[in-house]
Parts: sequence; C-alpha cells; structure tokens
Amino acid sequence: MGIILEARSLNKKVELGNSRQLHILKDINLEIEQGEFVSVMGPSGSGKSTLLYNISGMDKMTSGSVKFKGREMASLKEEELAQIRLNNMGFIFQDINLLKNLSLIDNVMFPALVSQGAGADKKAVYQKAQKLLEMTGIQKLADHHITQASGGQLQRVAICRALINEPDILFGDEPTGALDSKSAAEIMSIVAEINQKGTTVMLVTHDAKVAAKSERILFMVDGNLVAQKKMSKYDAQRDDIKKREENIMKWLVEKGF
Ligand SMILES: Nc1ncnc2c1ncn2[C@@H]1O[C@H](COP(=O)(O)OP(=O)(O)OP(=O)(O)O)[C@@H](O)[C@H]1O
Ligand SMILES: [Mg+2]
Repeated sequence: MGIILEARSLNKKVELGNSRQLHILKDINLEIEQGEFVSVMGPSGSGKSTLLYNISGMDKMTSGSVKFKGREMASLKEEELAQIRLNNMGFIFQDINLLKNLSLIDNVMFPALVSQGAGADKKAVYQKAQKLLEMTGIQKLADHHITQASGGQLQRVAICRALINEPDILFGDEPTGALDSKSAAEIMSIVAEINQKGTTVMLVTHDAKVAAKSERILFMVDGNLVAQKKMSKYDAQRDDIKKREENIMKWLVEKGF
C-alpha cells in the first residue's frame, strides 16, 4: 500500500468583490492510502464539496500542495489534468450528469471511447460496459433511453460510467443524497464492493449509514479538518452495520455536530 492522494496546507479562497474574500479551505493536511475508503462529513457549508473539487483537480486551489500518485497537481497542464480525471479518477455526484440523447449503455461507454480515441476497440468497450451494468443489476435496461430509468437506476449508470476506465480512485459527492433509503443502501453495497476489489473511495456524505461502510471519517467544520475517526474496513459478513452507524452518530455528537 502507499499514499495515493496527499494534500499539504491546502487553502482555497474566493474573491467576493469589494475586496471581500471567503476562506473556504484552511490549511488542510490529508493523506489517503491506496485502497482506502474515506468519508467526509460536516455541517452544510463546511467545505466538503470544495475539498473534493480541489483535491481532484476539478477546481484550482489557492495555495498548498496536492499530490496524486506522487505528481503535484498544480504543476500539471490543464490537458494533463483532464487526462488524469478521465483515466485515473471516477466521479459520482448527486446531480447525475448523463447525456440525454444516448442510451444507458452508450452513456457508460462514452468515457472509454473518449479515452481510447480514434482507435477505440468498441466491441471490448461494449462488453466491459455490459459487465458493469450486470454488476449494478441494470443490464436489462442497457438499450433504454435515460428518460426511461428511475433515479436509483440512473445513479447506477453514473457508477458504471465512473468505473469504465478502471479509475484508481472513485470520488462521490452525496451520491445517494437524492435516493430513497432502499436504493441508497443498494448503491452503497455496490460502492463497498468496488472498494473491496481495490479501488480507493472518497465520499462526501451527510448520512451516517453511508459513512458506516467506510473505514475512516474526516470531519470538517468551517473549512478546517477538525477530527478523524478510524474504523476497521467494513465486512458485510462480520460487521453489524447498525452498530457502526450508532458509533458514528455518537462520535459526531461528541464532535459537536
Ligand atoms: N465559487 C464559490 N464562490 C463563493 N462561495 C463559494 C464558492 N464555492 C463554495 N462557496 C462557499 O464555500 C462554503 C463551502 O461550500 P461547500 O459547497 O464546499 O460546502 P459543503 O460542505 O459541501 O456544503 P453542503 O453540505 O451544503 O453541500 C459555503 O459557504 C459556500 O457558500
Ligand atoms: Mg457539498
């Protein structure tokens, strides 16, 4: 194992006009191990999404250092960053961003076809996409239009799409936030399974049930990383998920959440 992602004195400030400035991320120091499953919790407005955007190169930090697989993100050209996001990182968000005029399977295949360019092996990509749809239980909907799928099904498509290029790390910002509790639990089982297979996962969540499947929780308040809770890796056979959830709730209350 090694460190896949490392932030040192990461700061994010935005100019608000009239020389007013908002300091959103304050000297964040953070290391994520290869294969780890980390959740980020904290009150609304504490900077969780901003943290995710800044350590994944989706947004430009104001100062500090972020290294992904040993490479300093700030030193990369926009094109190199785009390549890393496409090939090494997967993203799932609450607002699912699928291409409206493509079928489910075409949406899943899309990042792989973009990545492989003109010489893309379409058949191999198709088979891989089918496998992912199977894993997430929506293979029957492969050729359906995305307007014909439910929220939970679309979130599965988003996961498949995030995984098609076999990313080293999967980022999620409230990926189950818009789902009913049954769909959310199913999505989280899929995410836990992906992590068991070796993909590093980092999720922002308000939900202790979601965080209960991770092995470390970062707690943010007002732009600061104020506490961390380390747990064992979740094992569906061995662990009582309710107990883990209760422990997290207790910890959050202790931290003043
Ligand atoms: N581009 C921006 N310009 C101005 N303010 C911003 C910008 N991006 C974020 N903020 C502010 O920074 C703070 C942190 O926002 P962020 O979205 O990271 O919070 P969050 O913890 O993800 O909240 P939530 O749980 O509600 O999603 C908020 O006060 C937000 O209004
Ligand atoms: Mg947010």
